[in-house]
Amino acid sequence: MVTHRDRGLRHLKNPSTSRKSIKSSVLSVALYVILLFTLSIFVFILYSKDILDDEHAMPLLRVEKSESKQQLEVQLWETPSSYSLHPCIEPTNKYKVVLGWDRYITVRSNGGLNQMRTGIADMVAVAHIMNATLVIPQLDKRSFWQDTSTFSDVFDEPHFIKHLQQDVRIVKELPKELESLPRARKHFTSWSGVGYYEEMKQLWKDYRVIHVAKSDSRLANNDLPLDIQRLRCRALYHALRFSPSIENLAKKLVGRLRSRAERYIVLHLRYEKDMLSFTGCTYGLSDAESEELRVMREKTNHWKIKNINPIEQRIGGLCPLTPKEVGIFLQALRYPPSTLIYIAAGEIYGGDRHLSELTSRFPNVVSKEMLATEEELKTFSHHATQSAALDYIISLESDLFVPSHSGNMAIAVEGHRRFLGHRKTITPDRQRLVELFDKLEAGTLNMSSFSRLVRQLHRNRSGAPRRRHGAPSGIKGRARLRLEEPFYQNPFPECICKSSE
Ligand SMILES: *[C@@H]1O[C@H](CO)[C@@H](O)[C@H](O)[C@H]1NC(C)=O
Ligand SMILES: *[C@@H]1O[C@H](CO)[C@@H](O)[C@H](O)[C@H]1NC(C)=O
Ligand SMILES: *[C@@H]1O[C@H](CO)[C@@H](O)[C@H](O)[C@H]1NC(C)=O
Repeated sequence: MVTHRDRGLRHLKNPSTSRKSIKSSVLSVALYVILLFTLSIFVFILYSKDILDDEHAMPLLRVEKSESKQQLEVQLWETPSSYSLHPCIEPTNKYKVVLGWDRYITVRSNGGLNQMRTGIADMVAVAHIMNATLVIPQLDKRSFWQDTSTFSDVFDEPHFIKHLQQDVRIVKELPKELESLPRARKHFTSWSGVGYYEEMKQLWKDYRVIHVAKSDSRLANNDLPLDIQRLRCRALYHALRFSPSIENLAKKLVGRLRSRAERYIVLHLRYEKDMLSFTGCTYGLSDAESEELRVMREKTNHWKIKNINPIEQRIGGLCPLTPKEVGIFLQALRYPPSTLIYIAAGEIYGGDRHLSELTSRFPNVVSKEMLATEEELKTFSHHATQSAALDYIISLESDLFVPSHSGNMAIAVEGHRRFLGHRKTITPDRQRLVELFDKLEAGTLNMSSFSRLVRQLHRNRSGAPRRRHGAPSGIKGRARLRLEEPFYQNPFPECICKSSE
């Protein structure tokens, strides 16, 4: 470098260079003239454009107005840009196909539909890690929902078995000769990694069958091999399809929604008795209602926390939004009152008494009971799990999904919508919202300021692509594991990739 520059300096003193510089100064005068000429043409064009603009001032204004209406439409409905991202769930070339073994895992899934679905996807991965054959899981019949549905009532069982045949051997039942053998009954530790399950293979020395008593959250969110994460996605998003009767009715209902309006919102209004009782959230309820919820909590043995301060719960952002709060929230986001809203939920606590605080703002609210005939819903009405499956599909297909609480369904639907192309999901920041609601109520904030603040607060909460969050900083040890963003809420980056990957 240095030697080059030295040579350049010596060059300047060369006589041939000064002849060149006369030539070049002639050239620069010519360039200067050309530049002046171009500039004057430019100024002329600008000036005449000004005149034109003046003449067309009125139409221009009108264009601007309709543009801002378009901008609003975009803000309300447009899917967050997902650049060139796409689902990626194929195994890498390091993946080992496991063709099963004469060791079996039986599972009792626990929880509602979505807790069971993610738990079953995890059990597929666990069976793969442990090189075991998975027996079709039993569904929870004892939960709050008291549902007797079997796996094949809810899911497409043949599809599940076939779709995963390269990953895990799955059988409908434990072979007869193994039924009488003693089983290892295990409560696997929550949020475990591959190392834990490798260790658990020790059990195969003494047992041919392991029974897993609980399936939810048995696998960590992070630090698992890429192939295990992708297997979880294959299991949840492709293999665990709902049964044909559920898929068919859901498709019909989506069609009926689309015939009512161009677009619809699904509101997962988790304002149900069990949720309010469990969380101790009594804001806006009568004394009699609060008492009813308290008694229910008292009587439910497996809910360990009995004494709850409802005000602290609410301020902490731990309460589901009320129908009224949801209404004000959607108003603040500027959804027009005519917007079609599908309520994905079980029975709303207090029925119309509470729901009316939403419908007074958004009259176009519908539920599956309003969209389907009694005949169509006959098999669903006594099976909360199947009914939740209908809601799940309708939620996936919606233009916007808004959960009023951060439960298992909210998490599962948000994640699935991300996977399908970052379909819009607005997740209310309940803690901050509650503060603003109270200011609005107290009159220290007017609606237009409230609306602006709410929109600002949710700009980054509409389901745009981003990597899954880790645990909040400053938290150490195992507590981290449960505070991380759940894998199924955002399977990015493992199952969502850039085009080149
Ligand atoms: C996995 O199962 C196969 C039988 O399909 C068996 O041959 C193999 O030894 C097992 N592998 C491990 C690591 O246990
Ligand atoms: C609402 O409050 C803000 C800030 O206090 C004020 O600037 C604005 O003019 C108010 N808007 C209306 C419509 O009253
Ligand atoms: C939103 O996200 C962007 C990019 O991740 C970040 O730069 C910005 O600060 C965030 N804004 C808010 C209001 O959180």
